[in-house]
Amino acid sequence: MSGDVTPDPRAEANAMLIRARTMLRPEIGMVLGSGLGGLVEAVEDAVSIPYGELAGFPHPGVSGHAGKLVIGRISGTPVAVMAGRAHYYESGDAGVMRPALETLKAFGVTAMILTNAAGGLRPNLGPGSVMLITDHINFSGTNPLFGEKNDARFVGLTSAYDAGMREALRRAARDTGTELGEGVYMWFSGPSFETPAEIRFAQMIGADAVGMSTVPEVILSRFLGMRVAACSVITNFGAGMTGGELSHDETKDMAPLGGAKLATILKQALANGLA
Ligand code: HPA
Repeated sequence: MSGDVTPDPRAEANAMLIRARTMLRPEIGMVLGSGLGGLVEAVEDAVSIPYGELAGFPHPGVSGHAGKLVIGRISGTPVAVMAGRAHYYESGDAGVMRPALETLKAFGVTAMILTNAAGGLRPNLGPGSVMLITDHINFSGTNPLFGEKNDARFVGLTSAYDAGMREALRRAARDTGTELGEGVYMWFSGPSFETPAEIRFAQMIGADAVGMSTVPEVILSRFLGMRVAACSVITNFGAGMTGGELSHDETKDMAPLGGAKLATILKQALANGLA
């Protein structure tokens, strides 16, 4: 089968519901990862819609994740912020974010900024640092487009991470004197953390950070024709790099450190007018 992708009717219904709640028509969407919900406080004139009111939106079941869509302005720029995501490991459905992303697209969003908490694999990507994702490795064995019938499923990912948006984020980091690393994010299914052997393997094949999210949202956003940028907030070194055991508590405790830096960069990028 070829031709256009059949839109999910829930997406247009959700978009109508959102339009009835706010006059804003953002072109930029954001997904806030584990422990990064603090960025919601930067949203001015905020209108908040619980995911429960939006058909097909996830029910975030992970502590550290809220579950609301916040429409408002950051640095004067209209944004649609998803505070909370669902992960593949919660249900075994890699396409769990598809209705939400289709809704944002139907609402008029053309560019997504995705954020996550991740483990760093390089000495200079320690807890509290922020990494601009330049590329990814999908090590999950799954794909959110499994079962998609349309030829549009053969999504090209050669330039998945938009060059213009990346440059805008680099510039915002420079403007604010905030350190911003760059690297390749490797998606593991979770929910268990990686083993030290998996981390050594990840380092060997060129990963700079590891995590349990974001990649399916990148694939879906590109499938839907939206531009994408993504950043990781590093909460810990990868398993075995320092000796201690990893935990979700550590992720939640450490996320605000890099989260504050990421918020600084994003606010400046939006003030500059994200390209
Ligand atoms: N591995 C996978 N996901 C993560 C990590 C990690 O070390 N830290 C935060 N999220």
